[in-house]
Amino acid sequence: MFEHIERVPGDAILGLIEAFKKDTNPQKVDLGVGVYKDAQGNTPVMRAVKEAEALLLKNETTKTYIGSHGAPQYGEVVLPMVLGKDSPVLAAKRASATQSPGGTGALRLAADFISAQLPGKGIWVSDPTWPNHHGIFTAAGIELHKYPYVDAENRLDFEGMLAAVKQIPAGDVIVLHACCHNPTGFDLDHAQWQQILEVVRERNLLPLIDFAYQGFGEGLDEDAYGVRLMAENLDEVIITSSCSKNFGIYCERTGCLIMVAKNSEQMENVRSQVAIVARENYSNPPAHGGAIVSEILHSAELAALWREELTEMRDRINTLRRDFVESLKPYGLDQKYACVAEQRGMFSYTGLKPEQVDRLRDEFGIYMVRSGRANVAGFSHENLPYLAKAIAAVN
Ligand code: LMR
Repeated sequence: MFEHIERVPGDAILGLIEAFKKDTNPQKVDLGVGVYKDAQGNTPVMRAVKEAEALLLKNETTKTYIGSHGAPQYGEVVLPMVLGKDSPVLAAKRASATQSPGGTGALRLAADFISAQLPGKGIWVSDPTWPNHHGIFTAAGIELHKYPYVDAENRLDFEGMLAAVKQIPAGDVIVLHACCHNPTGFDLDHAQWQQILEVVRERNLLPLIDFAYQGFGEGLDEDAYGVRLMAENLDEVIITSSCSKNFGIYCERTGCLIMVAKNSEQMENVRSQVAIVARENYSNPPAHGGAIVSEILHSAELAALWREELTEMRDRINTLRRDFVESLKPYGLDQKYACVAEQRGMFSYTGLKPEQVDRLRDEFGIYMVRSGRANVAGFSHENLPYLAKAIAAVN
């Protein structure tokens, strides 16, 4: 039965973890998968998370199922974090939260919901986008299309994007990155979000906003600008949020699918269908990550500590972006890579070509995605001189 099955290459992003581990170069640098790293190159457990886990261990009384929508206490804190605590959308009870196994799980729920409830709708993703968007939507049987996002000079191509969005067939789904665009790091400004909103409204498109990096761009509320704009001005929006990254609980797979509907009655109808999709995929989400998040956000003290730690991470990344460009000055390459300091979030579309990425890996033990995407959190003040020298060598 299995004789005809062919072996395929592993996932291009996750495969870098293994390749990096095997490399024996003592100076090797990991700029691959999107996880935060501190100055020592570690991905630490946040202090607020450790404290919340100690409380959970002490107070936990059961490990029974938490239901297809997950723990209500989790939804209660994620909704205001994403939509704003004074959100008119929340006041009107137009939004529903479903805890999911990571942001990826939320995307798969959204994809299966669209496939089952909105058959025939195409989905439009930025070119480039996180490669798994292609996998997830295609696996759910949705026809995938692209709109331009970056030009040949490695700049945000907003005019190209806008022109393409104006041509999307009415009623289709458009995937937008709320902030910290993965893989490019180029985000829309407020005026650009407003323009996209107008077109989305005119063409009656359904926005699916991927919000995997809240807090890594400019701040928790600042990064939610586009999400809140859309949710407050449109009848229907799908949001896939993640707490895996901003709480540093990657392996606990902690996401949330937020469905915004026209009114509370339609929201409840939609919510009932999402429960079926979750049930058919994995029944109930894992509990631990959501329990950590709700323990932290229900405590003023832990929430303040978490915000402080998240701010430290964001500031460190933004400082490293500037210092990276500075470190290229002696090689006359600072202008060429100036975009790195302007982009936001964990990722940077550096403009390095696949052949240059291959040379960086083979000759210097520097690992990044072949598209030229670097995880900026993998920079450190220790490795910047080495990185700059290596980049100069492949230029
Ligand atoms: C990334 O893009 O590196 C992260 O979102 C991790 C992943 O699952 O690909």
